Amino acid sequence: MKKPFKKVAVVGTGILGTQIAMLAANVGYKVKVYDPREGAFELAFNNRKAELKGKKITPFIPWERWERIRKAVVQVTDLREAVKDADFVIEAAPENIELKNKVFKQLGAMTPKNCILATNSSSIPVSKMEKSSGRPERCLNVHFYFPLQGTNMVDIMGGTKTLPAVMKKGREWIISIGCIPLTVNKEILGFCFNRVWRAIKREVLYMWGNGFVDFRDSDRGWMVFTKMKEGPFGLMDKVGLDVVYDIEMVYYNESKDPKDKPPAALLKMVKAGKLGVKSGKGFYTYPNPEFLRKDFLKPKG
Ligand SMILES: NC(=O)c1ccc[n+]([C@@H]2O[C@H](COP(=O)([O-])OP(=O)(O)OC[C@H]3O[C@@H](n4cnc5c(N)ncnc54)[C@H](O)[C@@H]3O)[C@@H](O)[C@H]2O)c1
Repeated sequence: MKKPFKKVAVVGTGILGTQIAMLAANVGYKVKVYDPREGAFELAFNNRKAELKGKKITPFIPWERWERIRKAVVQVTDLREAVKDADFVIEAAPENIELKNKVFKQLGAMTPKNCILATNSSSIPVSKMEKSSGRPERCLNVHFYFPLQGTNMVDIMGGTKTLPAVMKKGREWIISIGCIPLTVNKEILGFCFNRVWRAIKREVLYMWGNGFVDFRDSDRGWMVFTKMKEGPFGLMDKVGLDVVYDIEMVYYNESKDPKDKPPAALLKMVKAGKLGVKSGKGFYTYPNPEFLRKDFLKPKG
């Protein structure tokens, strides 16, 4: 397996950054992680473990390797220390364009000049932050899903000046960590597959938010149709309803189409602290959501 880099840094180790760091460490990259919250990596690592065990999901990285990976990932609380000798940095900080631009500016100043800078943003094209880095030709969107539960596909998209060689290295890196690159040839909001998921999300939110259907029935329909273990609302709870709201607003702000505006009921939930799995309550209640019960998909009156 070809490895295009030696040293990888992950900036922001919440739900997604931690999984990305684990995938890279799993195949032998030297991985350093930075998060301003001390212990963030350990916390997310333990949460993912509990989540997968709770759902009886066989993880993408076999359990027997987890402890080795936890020890191999170097956790630092100083950004410069994390990225100063990296060949590839991927940021997975909160979905906020000002914050991402700040991070890209710091990365441009602190990393070696050939280092490739990527963002795991779900909705912001890297063209909106490439300038801050001072090296737009080496910037990428590299967007993960939930790799640890086996959703091992990754959208990859360049910005306005990304070099073909940088796209190539990005693809090689994705393949080297066991993922499938979904290449976007021309910039589009939502990349390749995330745009498809977003279309489903928009429709089910519209149906629920306007009182047409109960969210459980949308999930039942989806689960029976696709044989997945959760429906769109269960999945949104996992992503975090605050994150979902922010992402939907990015689409709305881009299009100004009222159909793209997330329903007021979603904002109400976010303001009430109902954020999904991370707060114990979203559409469902955790740790034992209704959709995991045996009778959720049984014909009943
Ligand atoms: N949650 C998902 O399902 C999902 C899927 C794909 C992509 N993403 C994207 O990944 C990114 C992170 O999402 P998440 O769900 O992991 O969020 P999260 O809230 O779980 O994690 C974000 C982490 O960033 C840290 N952070 C805050 N300020 C920072 C800074 N200045 N520099 C570095 N780190 C900082 C936080 O302490 C936190 O640990 C977002 O851009 C999101 O759109 C999320």
